[in-house]
Amino acid sequence: MTTLIRGGTVVNHDHSRRADVLARDGVIVAIGDDLEAPAGAQMIDAGGCYVMPGGIDPHTHLEFQFMGTVSADDFEWGTKAALSGGTTMVVDFCIPNPGQSLLAAYQDWRRKAEGAASDYGFHMGITWWDKQVFEEMETCVKTYGINTFKHFMAYKGALMVNDDELYNSFLRCSSLGAMPLVHAENGDVVFRLQQHYLETGINGPEGHAYSRPPVVEGEATNRAIMIADMAGCPLYVVHTSCRDSHEAIARARAAGKRVFGEPLIQHLVLNEDEYRNPDWDYAARRVMSPPFRPREHQASLWAGLQSGSLQVVATDHCAFTTEQKRFGRADFTKIPNGTGGLEDRMPVLWTAGVNSGRLTKEEFVAVTSANSARILNVYPQKGAVAVGSDADLVIWDPTARKTISVKKQISRIDYNVFEGYECVGVPRATLSRGEIAWLDGDLRAKPGSGRYVPREAFPAVHVANAAWRERNAPRGVERADVTP
Ligand code: URP
Ligand code: ZN
Ligand code: ZN
Repeated sequence: MTTLIRGGTVVNHDHSRRADVLARDGVIVAIGDDLEAPAGAQMIDAGGCYVMPGGIDPHTHLEFQFMGTVSADDFEWGTKAALSGGTTMVVDFCIPNPGQSLLAAYQDWRRKAEGAASDYGFHMGITWWDKQVFEEMETCVKTYGINTFKHFMAYKGALMVNDDELYNSFLRCSSLGAMPLVHAENGDVVFRLQQHYLETGINGPEGHAYSRPPVVEGEATNRAIMIADMAGCPLYVVHTSCRDSHEAIARARAAGKRVFGEPLIQHLVLNEDEYRNPDWDYAARRVMSPPFRPREHQASLWAGLQSGSLQVVATDHCAFTTEQKRFGRADFTKIPNGTGGLEDRMPVLWTAGVNSGRLTKEEFVAVTSANSARILNVYPQKGAVAVGSDADLVIWDPTARKTISVKKQISRIDYNVFEGYECVGVPRATLSRGEIAWLDGDLRAKPGSGRYVPREAFPAVHVANAAWRERNAPRGVERADVTP
C-alpha cells in the first residue's frame, strides 16, 4: 500500500515545514515539496491541515482486572477509540497478580492484545518481590523488549509494594538498563485516611478525594525520587496530578536527576469540584487515583508542560461503566478507580493547550507523541514524521469542531468525563502504519492489525545518572544487584 498525503504542513516536535509525505508498506519513504503520486497510490488531501506523528498514549489499562472487576474497554475498542482521536500507539500495563510469574502475565497480555487495531507496547508491573521476579525481569528486558517496570506505592493489600521491594527492583532496573515507573501515593496514609472518613460517616465519592490529598502524592514522589537516586536509575512518575509532585520532579531535574513526569489530560482540565456533584453516579464516574485536584494544581501542571519539567500527557485510560462504579455505592473505597480519555486526549489538549496559547503546535507534538517515544526508547520509529519512521500519522484539522458526547464516542462505557467539552482541532484522518484507520468521521480501523512494539534497554549513561555518580563515585560506591 502506497499513500501520498498532499498539501499539509508537517509538524514535528522540533520543527514544522510545508511538505507532502509519501508512505509505502507502513513506513515513511519521502517527505518533500510536490511529491509525485506513484501509480495506484492512495491520495489524502491535507490542505489546511497539520501532518503530525500519531499520538502515543504511554499509560493505558485495557481489559484490566482491577478492584474486583475488569475495565470495560478491551484492546480492540480501546485502540479503536485511540485511533479516532489521533493516537496510534498505546503502552499498556501488564500487571501480574502478586505471586504470579511475570512471564505468564506477559503471555496473558499478548493474548488480550490480539484484537488491537493500533500498535502497542507494555510496561511490566512489579507487584511482589523474590528471586523469581529478579530473574524474570531480565527476560522481560532482553527477550520481550520491555524496558519499563511499574510500581504501585498505593493500593495497600493489593498491588502496593513497600520501600524494600522498591529499592530491590530499582537496583535491578539499574543493572538491566531499564527504567522504573511509580504510581506515587503513600498507600499506608491513604488506607488510614480512608478508614477515618468511613468512620466519620463519609462514604460517598467525595471521600475518595479527601483520603488522597496532594501531600500523599508529594511524599511518595519525593521518596521514589530518592530511592531511584540511591539505586542509580532514572524514574518516571505516572499521573503526576499536583503541585507537590510536580515540584519534587522539577527539583530532582534541577539537581541533574533523570526524572520524568506525566500529567493526565483529565487532571489538566477537570478539578475536584466534580466530586461535589450531588448525583452519586456523576461523581463516582470520576473516581480515579490520584483524584482530580483544586484548580491551582492545574496551573502548576500546565507550567510544567510549558517549561519542560513535565514531559508527556497521558490518559491512564481505565474505563468502568456506571454499573461497575456502583460496586462502591455504600463505600467509596470499593468504587473501581479509573476514567477514560483515549479518544479525547489530543482534541482536548489541542483546545485547552494550543488554542489557549499555552503550548505551541510543536510542543503539542512533543507532549502527545515525540517525548513518549524518546523517553521509552522507541524514537524515531515512533513519534516522528521522518523518512524511515513508521507511517503512524494524524492529519489534524485545527479549525474542525467537535462537542464531546457519549452518544458519538467509540469507547464502550456509558458516559464521558469530558461530556459537552467543545473541541476546536480534531483529526481529519489517522493512519496506522500507512493504513487509514479514521477518515472524516468514518472508523476503518481493523481489529488485530496492531503490532507489538518491543523497546530496547537504555544505554548505561542514561541509567547511572550524573547526580548519583557525583555523590557516590568519590566514595567508591558501585551499583550492585541485590539478589533476594
Ligand atoms: O484510578 C486509576 N488511575 N486507575 C488505574 C490504575 C492506576 O492506578 O493507574
Ligand atoms: Zn496509578
Ligand atoms: Zn494507571
